[in-house]
Amino acid sequence: MKNQPYRIVFVCLGNICRSPLAEGVFRHLVKEAGLEERFEIASAGTGGWHVGEPPDRRMTRTAAKNGVDLSKQRAQQFKAHFLDRYDLILGMDRSNVDNMLMIAGAGDELDADAQKVRLFRDFDPSPGNGEVPDPYYGDQQGFDEVYAMVNRTCKNLLEQLRD
Ligand code: 4NP
Repeated sequence: MKNQPYRIVFVCLGNICRSPLAEGVFRHLVKEAGLEERFEIASAGTGGWHVGEPPDRRMTRTAAKNGVDLSKQRAQQFKAHFLDRYDLILGMDRSNVDNMLMIAGAGDELDADAQKVRLFRDFDPSPGNGEVPDPYYGDQQGFDEVYAMVNRTCKNLLEQLRD
């Protein structure tokens, strides 16, 4: 019998900049490694403003420049049942993590599912302040920096999960 795929979801606020990039980069690395059967990969935003929209053009261009295609992605909102569905739920910053736990209704006593919620940069070999900054209101340099951070973190994440 086939093993269940490992289910991972990347989460930010709008699901049009940071988490679509993480989804795209991780998907790209998984494909390169020939491990597509082993992972189910998604992204979501804790806010619903951009549901159904493609990623921000600036992020799509930044990804394309690095060989990563985001064009088929469409934004979706994080839902409480994701806690049950996914094996690993990675927030791009601390407010994303807080918002997810709020949406999921996790109380002070974190149950097993809430422990699946982690900061994405927990997997960054150079984690800095632990957060991926929102590049939305910044310039191209901000998008390039986010790409470098996300690429490095996704590589390390895949190394840790593949065995
Ligand atoms: P993201 O960036 O969380 O990286 O997708 C944002 C994009 C749009 C908004 C917030 C964050 N917004 O409020 O519209």
